[in-house]
Parts: sequence; structure tokens; C-alpha cells
Amino acid sequence: MITKKMQTALNKQINEELFSSYLYLSMAADFESRNLTGAAKWMKMQADEEFEHAMKFFHFILGRGGEVDLLPIAKPQKSWKSPLAAFQDAEKHEQHITKCINDLYEMATKEKDYATQSMLKWFVDEQVEEEASVGEIVAKLEMVADSKNGLFMMDRELGKRQED
Ligand code: FEO
Repeated sequence: MITKKMQTALNKQINEELFSSYLYLSMAADFESRNLTGAAKWMKMQADEEFEHAMKFFHFILGRGGEVDLLPIAKPQKSWKSPLAAFQDAEKHEQHITKCINDLYEMATKEKDYATQSMLKWFVDEQVEEEASVGEIVAKLEMVADSKNGLFMMDRELGKRQED
């Protein structure tokens, strides 16, 4: 069994992951409307991944005899002034998610909840990857700056993203 405190925190994390999915879906729609189909594809795949992250918490709570409590998902921003601005927001968001995961890990450690710690280890590693991949895209978009040609190339590269 998990404690009520941990259950509440894990349910909150389901919401964080679902909001992440919503946020990236909103970015995908914004990219698509600007004909940046490669970036849109990248973000749609990211949105799918975030949904899977939410489901990992969902199954974990139920598997430990807990109760899933789905909370309202906040409305995400609808448009960004540039692809760079969107990816910078994604990077900031991932840093926030890393903090959420670290806080959960700290709580699980204090509670001597080893099963939750073990489950969270996957997320600790995943966050290193997520921050690195989005950080690399931000750095490349900064290089491209106002070059339309550069953005075209970048969009093509983002469109090559494959399922993990
Ligand atoms: Fe599920 Fe991108 O953090």
C-alpha cells in the first residue's frame, strides 16, 4: 500500500504529465498552422510520450492498491511568437517536471517507500534525456536565428524523429 500523502502526490504527477501532453499538443497545432510539419510531428510524438508517462503513474497507483484521482487539466498557451520561443518554453517546462520528479523521489525516500523510489528511477533517467534533447533543439534554433533557410532545414530534421 502507498500512504495517502504519496497517493495524492502521485495523482498530482498524473496531472503534470497530462498537462505536459496538452502543452506539447498545443505547440504541435501552432507549428502545423505555420506549415512547420516536422516540428509539429516532433511535438505530437512528445505529447504521446507524455500521455504514456501519465499512464505509468496511473498503473503504478492502481497496482499498489491505491486510488486514481484525475484532476482538471489546465488550458495550455495557444500560440508562440516563434519556434524558438516554443522550444524554450518546452525546456523550462521539462526543468519544472524534473523538479517534480525529484521532489517525489525525496518524499519516497523519507517515507522509506522503496517501490515508489524504484519506479521513479526510470523517470529520473528519462528527465535527463528529455532535458538534453529539448536543450539541443533550443541551441540549434538559436544558431539558426532569423534564417528562413535554417528553419526549413531544422524543420526537416525534427520531422525525422522516430518512435523510441
Ligand atoms: Fe514526462 Fe517530459 O516529462
